[in-house]
Amino acid sequence: MGYNVAIDGPAGAGKSTIAKQVAKENGYIYVDTGAMYRGLAIHFLNLGIDPKDTEKIIEACKDVEVTIGYESGIQQIYVNGENVTAKLRTEEVGNMASVSSAVPRVREKLLSLQRKLAKDMSVVQRTLAREKDVIMDGRDIGTHVLPDADVKIYLTASVEIRAKRRYKELVEKGVQCDLKEIEKDIEERDYRDMTRKIAPLKKAEDAILVDSSDMTLKEVVNTISRYCHR
Ligand code: DC
Repeated sequence: MGYNVAIDGPAGAGKSTIAKQVAKENGYIYVDTGAMYRGLAIHFLNLGIDPKDTEKIIEACKDVEVTIGYESGIQQIYVNGENVTAKLRTEEVGNMASVSSAVPRVREKLLSLQRKLAKDMSVVQRTLAREKDVIMDGRDIGTHVLPDADVKIYLTASVEIRAKRRYKELVEKGVQCDLKEIEKDIEERDYRDMTRKIAPLKKAEDAILVDSSDMTLKEVVNTISRYCHR
């Protein structure tokens, strides 16, 4: 089994940006588990399911398969064989993922894939390497998916800072948005992620807390990299 680094934290804390950079500097494979929940969310949306319709979500889990692959080192998500990576990052998909990820059947569906990935990369499409060092980010990696991870990080930042970062990102993409709306959305997501019954977001007892509110990206990457050594 390779070396495993778990990064958990709330939406907008910068987990994926940081994890990608730490992966690059240390030669790890980056596994984005939020993207898997988003992949399933696309399937539910394609079926016209309302996020609140838990019965239909459970039913729709029956005939869906999520797999991952890498193209030029970038994680790709396949839903029933179709590459949906380009469609993952919309607000609609994020909201469906946030609500549907509280459904136990949805989490069950992805848990075994996530655990297998940390153990044996041969489940990844077109990958020859079996054993690889992995950095995985999400909400329940250190507490639930990889409770024996070698390093656990809980990365957070204040709601205000996370909202400002998201606002800046959207403005740079030319998307019209409202800072207060984004703040409200982040608060709602935090509440859902932290209060759901199964695998809620919380800091694992043995996780290192990193609050990035007053840190630059480089400082956060350096701080986390310092903990990651065999
Ligand atoms: O990190 P993200 O925004 O791409 O994740 C999308 C949603 O998936 C998020 O609202 C919570 C859920 N999620 C989860 O419940 N457990 C994980 N390990 C990763 C994401």
